[in-house]
Order: sequence, then C-alpha cells, then structure tokens
Amino acid sequence: MHTIAIANHKGGVGKTTTAVNLAAGLARRGHRTLLVDVDAQAHATFWFVDDPDDIEADLQDVVTGRVAFREAVRTTRIEGLDLLPATLALAQLEVQLVSMTRREDRIARALEPGRDAYEFVVLDLAPSLSLVSLAALVAADSIVAPVSATKLAVSGLGAFLGWTDDFRLEGVITAPLLGVLVTMVDYRTRVTREVLEALDGSGLPLFATNVPRRVAAEDQVGERLVTGDAGSSGDLSAAYDAFIEEVLTRTTTTCSSSTAGAGEQV
Ligand SMILES: Nc1ncnc2c1ncn2[C@@H]1O[C@H](COP(=O)(O)OP(=O)(O)OP(=O)(O)O)[C@@H](O)[C@H]1O
Ligand SMILES: [Mg+2]
Repeated sequence: MHTIAIANHKGGVGKTTTAVNLAAGLARRGHRTLLVDVDAQAHATFWFVDDPDDIEADLQDVVTGRVAFREAVRTTRIEGLDLLPATLALAQLEVQLVSMTRREDRIARALEPGRDAYEFVVLDLAPSLSLVSLAALVAADSIVAPVSATKLAVSGLGAFLGWTDDFRLEGVITAPLLGVLVTMVDYRTRVTREVLEALDGSGLPLFATNVPRRVAAEDQVGERLVTGDAGSSGDLSAAYDAFIEEVLTRTTTTCSSSTAGAGEQV
C-alpha cells in the first residue's frame, strides 16, 4: 500500500480535481485504489456518491473507532476504486483529535486495515494546516502538492512546504514531496509564464506535466467525470493521464530525498 497525500493549504488550487482523477486513473490501470476524503467540504465524496444522505459512516467515524474501516468504505462506479467518504461531521474531528493520545498517528492507524486490500491510497486534503491535515500527512508515503499558476498560490506553496519541512525535521512527517503539480496553466498569459519560470528555478521536484486551465474542469465537477470517462475533456484527461504515469514512475523508483528547505526558494 502506497499512500499519496494531495495537499496544499492554499484553497482552490486543484487538489480535489487531482485526487479524484489520480485515484480513478490508478484504478483504471488495474491498481486497487482507495480514495479517502479528508476534507469536511466532501467534494471528492460528491464526485462518487449519488446521494450524500446515503452515507452512514465517514472518515471521522473510523478515526474515532465508532465504525470499522470496512463498514465505512464504499465501492464506486469505477472498478477497483473504493471511497472512504467525508461528511460535514469530519469538521468535528479536529476538536476530537486534540484530546486523543498519539493524535497525529490516528489517520494512519485508521487506514491500517486497508494495507493488504489496496495498492494505492489517495488522500484529498482540506485547504488548512490543521491537526487533521497533519495526521493525513503523517499517514502518507508521499506528498503531491498541486499549485495553480497564480502568484499568490506559488508564494503560499513556499509556506506550505516550509510547514511540512518543520515536521519532517522532527521526524513527524516521513513522506517526501513526490512532486509539485502546476494546475490551471494558460500559456497565453504572462502570469503563467512568470510562475512557471519561478518554479523552474526553485529546485522543487516539478512534475513535467502541467494541467491546463479549462472551463471544462468546472463542467466535469457537475457531471462528475474523471479521466477515462466518455465525455471527459480531451486535454484535461491527457494531462491527468500523463501525470498518473509520472506518479507511477516516481513511486516505483526511490522517492527523492527530503526536500527540506526547497520551499524557501519559491
Ligand atoms: N485545470 C483546471 N482548469 C480550470 N478550472 C479548474 C481546473 N482544475 C480545477 N478547476 C476548478 O477550480 C475549482 C477548485 O478546484 P478543486 O476543488 O479541485 O481545488 P481544491 O484545491 O481541492 O479546492 P479546496 O482547497 O477548496 O479543497 C473547482 O471549481 C474546479 O472545477
Ligand atoms: Mg478540495
């Protein structure tokens, strides 16, 4: 089981879009995959659950021990892809974790029963530097940080990576940064070109693939499409397919050593 956290505390940079496409794409390539929604906004959950009122148990129930892992996990319409959903109740977990011992290990422990069932676990994190996000990063074997091609997102990326580096230095987070995925790229704009130039010179492990900015991305949320679905946008799907191949290559070769300090260069 290899657990990949899709994380960045900046909101709206494409974390959920990346998490659902990555998880679905891995499953469609024959890898048994679990998508875990670690965000009370539950956007990844909505992508695969027709009626959210159907959800009887979520990640919070598993972490707090109210429900067994296997009871909370659901199948999805995609063969080989299961979902551990979120509901608004996940917002309570932050407070509940505070009074738990070994709180930062709690998500890792909650996912342990999936070790033999899944090749990949994909965690969709919330835009926050919370205890829940930290616990998700502790559970990860590698971290993918999406960043949109905007100035604010790129400056926020340095802060996020610095935050993870602090916990890495303390040995709390062990997962290396697998890569930074630049999303919402529009080569026609000066800001995209400047952002890509800054990131290129940052020393960060950028994925070679950039995800283009496409209005279709919004439509795909409404229609709940992912790469490989008939009707999904051609170049968004192509970008996510190329990204998935890079993830597979990077997770099978040794993850690059700690990127401590690299974020400061952005
Ligand atoms: N490549 C893209 N081009 C254009 N719009 C996109 C693209 N990817 C995602 N979006 C849109 O941008 C918005 C934010 O995307 P998404 O929900 O994936 O980001 P997020 O980082 O998960 O947000 P949050 O921080 O709120 O969890 C959504 O409306 C989504 O449809
Ligand atoms: Mg999200």
